[in-house]
Amino acid sequence: MDSRIKSLVKKLTLEEKVSLCSGSDYWHTQEIERLGIPAVMVCDGPNGLRKQDLEADNPGINNSIKSVCFPAGVSLAATFDTDIVRNVGETLGEECQAENIAALLGPGINIKRSPLCGRNFEYYSEDPFLAGKIAASYINGVQSKGVGTSLKHFCANNQEFRRNSYDSRIDERTLREIYLKGFEIAVKESQPWTVMCAYNMVNGVQMSENRRILTEILRDEWGFEGMTVSDWGAVRDRVKGIAAGLDLEMPGSQGTYDELVISAVNSGELDEADLDRCVERVLSFVFKAADNHNDEAVWNKDKDHVYARDLANECIVLLKNENRVLPLKNDEYVLFVGGFAKKPRFQGGGSSHVNCGTVDSTMLAMQWNSKVRYEEGFSAEDDSFDRSKFDSAVKAAHSVEKVVVFAGLPEIYESEGYDRSHMDLPKVQNDLIDAISAVNPHVIVVLENGSPVTMPWIDKVEAVLETYLCGEGVGVATARTLYGKSNPSGRLPETFPIRLEDNPSYVDYSSDVTKIDYREGIFTGYRYYTKKKMPVLFPFGHGLSYSTFTYGLMKCDTEKMKDNETVEVTVDVINESNIPGKEVVQLYVEPDILNTKIVRATRELKGFTKVFLDAHEKKTVRFVLDKSAFAYYDTDISDWYVEPGDYKIEICKNADEVIAYKTVNVSPKKPKKIVYDENSIYKDLKEDHAAWKVAGPYFEKYINGVLKAQNADEAAKDAFKADLDVFLNDMTLRNVLNMSNGAFTYKEMRDVIDKLNS
Ligand code: BGC
Repeated sequence: MDSRIKSLVKKLTLEEKVSLCSGSDYWHTQEIERLGIPAVMVCDGPNGLRKQDLEADNPGINNSIKSVCFPAGVSLAATFDTDIVRNVGETLGEECQAENIAALLGPGINIKRSPLCGRNFEYYSEDPFLAGKIAASYINGVQSKGVGTSLKHFCANNQEFRRNSYDSRIDERTLREIYLKGFEIAVKESQPWTVMCAYNMVNGVQMSENRRILTEILRDEWGFEGMTVSDWGAVRDRVKGIAAGLDLEMPGSQGTYDELVISAVNSGELDEADLDRCVERVLSFVFKAADNHNDEAVWNKDKDHVYARDLANECIVLLKNENRVLPLKNDEYVLFVGGFAKKPRFQGGGSSHVNCGTVDSTMLAMQWNSKVRYEEGFSAEDDSFDRSKFDSAVKAAHSVEKVVVFAGLPEIYESEGYDRSHMDLPKVQNDLIDAISAVNPHVIVVLENGSPVTMPWIDKVEAVLETYLCGEGVGVATARTLYGKSNPSGRLPETFPIRLEDNPSYVDYSSDVTKIDYREGIFTGYRYYTKKKMPVLFPFGHGLSYSTFTYGLMKCDTEKMKDNETVEVTVDVINESNIPGKEVVQLYVEPDILNTKIVRATRELKGFTKVFLDAHEKKTVRFVLDKSAFAYYDTDISDWYVEPGDYKIEICKNADEVIAYKTVNVSPKKPKKIVYDENSIYKDLKEDHAAWKVAGPYFEKYINGVLKAQNADEAAKDAFKADLDVFLNDMTLRNVLNMSNGAFTYKEMRDVIDKLNS
């Protein structure tokens, strides 16, 4: 801790200390002029600056300054490219410097548990590894410019329904492996200046008062050094919050809780040392921001708009492209249908909503080409049906070579603050795609949506381009992709199920309850679909290219490793086509399901890299895996543990398609101590060489006793012995005691247990 901060804390009165732990308004920290403590400003985030200059309010009713809207979280994750995401972060950091912003409120990395969550567009993935890696790159980018971030919403904030009060009830292993893992990766790899605690409760404790998660896990286990801040209005009991390690309350509550905190300190209910720690962390944040402020920074919005276009191109995912209907040719007669072609949807609603200066539409981007015609067909604003627009689009579709339907979710369908009630596009859009496919065989659907939708027409169309919500450059980026000026390279950061009912959280999600049981456990997203071998519309990690990629030699530098060692994996990737393009190489680890003693997912993502390949170029891609690629969270030892055994290291096209694999045997350097008791079973003891040395003779004694009582010849006895061996598999030591007719005594059982445990 900076000695300047320590000495300031000493000079502050109790009242001043308490006031510092709460904002002065919506966006500023408290100033204390007499000690030279400045107020600093924070703003949303995450995909562009939402800086409210004058009339501040959290829901964003009052306009914010003109800004540049970059791709939303889902789109950034779809890049599968940590370098690009770092670069976005750097750009946002520079913009913040120019606007004198101390921290940008993002990234939001909650797991997409259900396709219905209203904020899915803002979040990265259903997979914590991808979410954590993308978040770390974003944070490192922003913070490299001397501006802070706020990793949010910590944690298990996976729905908008009753978002301020529901209780996420999650077992410890699932919490660690799925809902905390992304945060853990981001904290360890990027040290965000701040972490924002979520609105909800976790296992019965409000997150703003959750000492175990905010202090014991976040700080003590992961080594977080920054400031914790409440989500806007997430504080319930400020006294408990301070004791739990929640440093800053936002927005300020105009002193509402200050009196309570002061009297709690005076009465001894709250330890002043806890308050001091919060104050120290608030001051460290404030001075870090002030010290790093760059007065000379300028924000060139035109330049950033051009950058937003290029970025959008990195995010777009080509889901289907039959008969190579895409890319379109300049001299083809093409009909664009759908309000989104002129009025694109490119960002989500709520606190991340940016006040854009310039927005590109695809129609505008294509105005140079007179062979492109337009029919509205349906409105981008809502789900209304207009017979004449509908019919006119179908009629026009007859006479062109190809039709591009710009479909998507109207803004009102998905936003912060509420969840979707279904996963469908507006009926009018589905009907129009059907009607157009009936008259034209070459239909391409461009989607603008923040979260998966059903596609009842999927077999009737030739191509689908998922643009998600890719920011204000969407129009030009889409035109470039449709016409082959840009080669799509995005991959799905989530599974698109065929129907909502297939999603593992379906039975629990959003029913009108306040206690949400995460009954699917670790089986979120592709972990569930792959385990169930369930067909999906498009798997996690899926995405096509105009290039054709193949894979060559795959190698691992070892076949056997201890968990304190690493394994290097290399694979050759080849672009077989004449078109330069980018491939996303995905690495998953698959445990040996038949020989594991714990429930595990079929495979889990443990590495990814995006590689550019020129026409006919070959490159070798390299990954290094450590223990974390093989470990699961073991609640017996409250730690990560690698179960000894074989693991397949797989290079995959997506979560469903393995291209090549190698098997590596991994064992823990420090095997976990097994505690034996009356319930220890025959099979486990037999498989453990050392344990069998101790327990084996007792079982032998029992078996021989049983055999002796048999009145049979040697061959029959041998056969019986083999059967008995199978029968005994699940027998516990106490079962043997009960059944041995006195041959295996209570004393002997206690002796065996003691010997095994020593
Ligand atoms: C949102 C946060 C946001 C904050 C400030 C809250 O309603 O949940 O993500 O950063 O408002 O606008």
